[in-house]
Amino acid sequence: MTSQEFVPDVFNYTLLNRLCQAYGPSGSEEEVAAIIKAEVVPYCDKLVSDSMGNLIASRNGSGKKVMVAAHMDEIALMVTYIDESGFLRFIVIGEIEARYLPYRRVILQNGKMGTIGLERLEKSTEIDLSKLYIDIGASSRAEAEQVVGIGDALILEGAYVEVGKRIMSKALDGRIGCFVAIEALKRTKSTNELAFAFTVQEEVAMRGARVAAYAISPDLALVVDVTRTGDTPGAARMEVSLGAGVGIKAFDHSLVTPPNIKRWMSATADRYSIPCQLEVLEQGGTDAGVIQLTKGGIPSGVLSIPARQVHTPTEVVDKQDMEAAVTLLTKLLEENEDL
Ligand code: CO
Ligand code: ZN
Repeated sequence: MTSQEFVPDVFNYTLLNRLCQAYGPSGSEEEVAAIIKAEVVPYCDKLVSDSMGNLIASRNGSGKKVMVAAHMDEIALMVTYIDESGFLRFIVIGEIEARYLPYRRVILQNGKMGTIGLERLEKSTEIDLSKLYIDIGASSRAEAEQVVGIGDALILEGAYVEVGKRIMSKALDGRIGCFVAIEALKRTKSTNELAFAFTVQEEVAMRGARVAAYAISPDLALVVDVTRTGDTPGAARMEVSLGAGVGIKAFDHSLVTPPNIKRWMSATADRYSIPCQLEVLEQGGTDAGVIQLTKGGIPSGVLSIPARQVHTPTEVVDKQDMEAAVTLLTKLLEENEDL
């Protein structure tokens, strides 16, 4: 096959919904890993969980060893203190701005919920974590301690909703990448040796990817994660738009994509008429940032899913961008001979 039109495939969005709604703060990704495990078993030759909790699905092959990485964790909160009235104080796990948090609902691993309250402020610009507390419906410290303890993590509630071709949910940062990786693993006819790493703790300095990349020691790595967009009112200037295709990363805070990787990714997208856009992200990074620095250096590229409201409980992505990412990843895995 030399050339073909980009034809959107049929996707199992119920799986994406389950992935997004699962509980998975950095360091507690087991629930997400269990969903992925059940899904990828029929498509790989070997499936291992390492000591950190990374899930690595490998497929035998004769060509290059290609690692695909997507992170399972999501931004979350962690309990630091419980006061005499049963209110919880907390820190953030990953980057969350305090001003996005008042009056959000939060969920503990045991399914119990709370809401985030805000102390009375003199000026609204004063919102920071020290002014916020979580109310879990308890009226004393003892009562609170029956459902929560110091060091417990809470995720932000954010239901999965489809609106036209857009999807909004919590945890799309992370899980949409896992979903793209799973769907590519199911579809690809690659003869290369493949290792799909579903990583832990990306939101806290990409810790899972570090050990996964070392253990896998691939010839090449492709990471799937979200990026920001510049197409909303008052947004920072950025070329990426929602719905304009999969992002091919040129640069972010953690990675300067090697020119040959960037060219190969763009050329492959062009060959199969896959909608794509080059991406420069001025802040933030992905697992590729640490994978590229593993051992003697591993050439790495990133497929970015444009997302609005990243690191809030209502992240928004476009189905066509996601589908373009699946197609591009599938093709890249099959065609890396020229690298
Ligand atoms: Co993130
Ligand atoms: Zn991410």
